Amino acid sequence: MLGQKKILITRNVPDAVINRARATYQTTLNNDDEPYGADQMIELAQGKDAILCTLTNDMSRTVIERLPNSICAIATFSVGYEHIDLEAARERGIIVTNTPGVLTEATADVALLLILGASRRAREGAEMIAGDWSGWTPTQLMGLSMQTKRLGILGMGDIGRACAVRARAFGMEIHYHNRTRLSPELEEGATYHGSAEELLKVSDFLSLHCPLSPDTKYFLNEERIALLPPNPVVINTSRGPVIDDEALIAALKSGRVAAAGLDVFDGEPKLNPGYLNCKNAFLLPHLGSATIETRNAMGFTALDNLDAVFSGEEPPNKLV
Ligand code: GLV
Repeated sequence: MLGQKKILITRNVPDAVINRARATYQTTLNNDDEPYGADQMIELAQGKDAILCTLTNDMSRTVIERLPNSICAIATFSVGYEHIDLEAARERGIIVTNTPGVLTEATADVALLLILGASRRAREGAEMIAGDWSGWTPTQLMGLSMQTKRLGILGMGDIGRACAVRARAFGMEIHYHNRTRLSPELEEGATYHGSAEELLKVSDFLSLHCPLSPDTKYFLNEERIALLPPNPVVINTSRGPVIDDEALIAALKSGRVAAAGLDVFDGEPKLNPGYLNCKNAFLLPHLGSATIETRNAMGFTALDNLDAVFSGEEPPNKLV
């Protein structure tokens, strides 16, 4: 019986999601919305059957090993799952699920917002109009055009491809690197590069869409920035640690990189303060999936996964 199952919801998710969870389960909510520390998480998990967590929760091996035996599933309200040690969960027989698919379009929209905001100097424009704008001039805040430029997409999964669809409509030429080459139907005319380094060499605009893993951590470092063509624009909607912040900040300051559009940060919410002094860094506070429709869909997907677990079925988005 689902109604007897107890779930811990670790952050304040949208009302529609809470209402559905309450209609199905006995729920413990985090009304303060402060991320739990490890000890608090372990304490609150006592007697629960599942945890609905988010990317702000540390679900590393040390936490998972201390969870009570009653926990049989962790459903994360995110597509990214680098905050969960899947191997530790597997060893304990805990099912882990995520929410792919439902946030593809919203996140690709934000990638385009960042491409436009960075290349058209939206941050400086907003600051100018709030300050001492003295009127139009022929050379004021000239940015970079997207038309005919090459957009390099690192990681051509659902979100990378949705970004490509949008960028094509702006006249960009799409290039990509992915672990495996896509079929011609999915490529839709995009040019495949066999290595990330080859992709960098043609990326007038570079958009990062790869998951964070030991292979991608600090991928965009000084050496790789040096491979980019002159005046490149760097966009990140994936995970902050894919970029070596010190290297990118130095490149933004020297002009080696023309502009960056960033929605995610290493160590967020405490981003490297160097970005705040770079007027050519257009920054957003990790709101890639932040639409009402998308956040509801993420919560419903997490609950669909738990419903399946407790009905003895295979959850649609099972990671382990
Ligand atoms: C958002 O960043 C997610 O992984 O869902």
